[in-house]
Amino acid sequence: MTTQRFLTGITTSGTPHLGNYVGSIRPAVRASLRPGVQSFYFLADYHALIKIDVPARIQRSTLEIAASWLAAGLDPERVVFYRQSDVPEIPELTWFLTCVLGKGVLNRAHAYKAAVDKNTAAGTDPDADVSAGLFMYPVLMGADILMFNAHKVPVGRDQVQHIEMARDMANSFNHRYGEHFVTPEAVIEDHVATLPGLDGRKMSKSYDNTIPMFATREQLKKLIGGILTDSKAPGEPKQVEGSALFQIFQAFASDAETQSLRQAYAAGIAWADAKQTVFERIDQELAPMRATYQDLIDHPARIEAILQAGAAKARTIATPFMDQLRHAVGLRPLQTQAEVSTKAAKVALPVFKQYRESDGQFYFKLQSADGRLLLQSAGFASPKVAGQTIAALQLQGVAVLASSSVALTHAPDVTEQEIAQALQALQAAKQA
Ligand code: TRP
Repeated sequence: MTTQRFLTGITTSGTPHLGNYVGSIRPAVRASLRPGVQSFYFLADYHALIKIDVPARIQRSTLEIAASWLAAGLDPERVVFYRQSDVPEIPELTWFLTCVLGKGVLNRAHAYKAAVDKNTAAGTDPDADVSAGLFMYPVLMGADILMFNAHKVPVGRDQVQHIEMARDMANSFNHRYGEHFVTPEAVIEDHVATLPGLDGRKMSKSYDNTIPMFATREQLKKLIGGILTDSKAPGEPKQVEGSALFQIFQAFASDAETQSLRQAYAAGIAWADAKQTVFERIDQELAPMRATYQDLIDHPARIEAILQAGAAKARTIATPFMDQLRHAVGLRPLQTQAEVSTKAAKVALPVFKQYRESDGQFYFKLQSADGRLLLQSAGFASPKVAGQTIAALQLQGVAVLASSSVALTHAPDVTEQEIAQALQALQAAKQA
């Protein structure tokens, strides 16, 4: 089996909080220790420019996030840990992908659509205050992923559409220029707890309810003391359900420890005492890292050197791969001229075939480029309706399979993904 490459980016637009630690940093550091896995972690500072125009904040966030990941145990010898803007091949690839992705796909991106919907609701110009950077965000992310031919991309649910777009870019590029890219898959981290914040809602910078990962011991105590509870008096039994304090504890504690706090709740522990327990438990996990973190923050040149070494490692892959891609698209030295054929290079394509059976009905099937049956329709009374169904498939892709009123059957050994790729290939060929 080939090594599986995992890749994920962290936008440098804030200070890591306990929610980031539990939901992303800690599981990623653990995953990076698994055998047979090559991990890429990077600081997505080009992405940060879309949200933040205060230079010092980008720089500070880059420092803090890098220090947090390193303090949490990420081993830069073992993984490829780098800063996006240190790899100039990434923006170059972004342009290549920009040229193979349909603009309509970007129009449908959630983040862009949400901005447009908000403007429309407010009665302003639909694109008011929408930067072209926000619009292009998914292409830059696609380049991050495809640059290293990552197989798996661990992300939150909100990012899944971006991975689908990256697959789309990989397929259309491969279709035009040959097989260069792996089609990546999202790994959705649903099992890792989302941590509640101080007010009980999901811990998030946008709710201003976070506990910084590296607050001092005193600050941490104070913040945990401020977690919202009900007003039950000492001695009164407390509910663990809906208790943010309990959930936060659970994210750090062993099963046995969790069980014992559960019993203490039932026995009426005072909130102040419960908070003290939670504080000590979290501090126990963070204190050793805190010292490392502070040491790194105090020596930014060390972090810089680690990131430079990471970028050098990343570029041992990115530079030759980008050379290959430049050559593939025709950005080549002039000494060696390739034959220019007047027609575009003829690539074998999947085909739709329409036909009539002895039962008098009209049918169609989709065949792969190498002649395998991918999709078979049931009979239509009129050829026109059969044709319309084909048109819908070509336009809307596999979504039609679920919505169409006629039976469309995959050939038994064929996955929906293969059908989707065939339809995309046809679409790409039409646009070319
Ligand atoms: N968009 C991601 C986020 O906001 C960050 C990111 C940038 C990323 N490039 C990536 C994640 C590539 C995974 C892969 O969370």
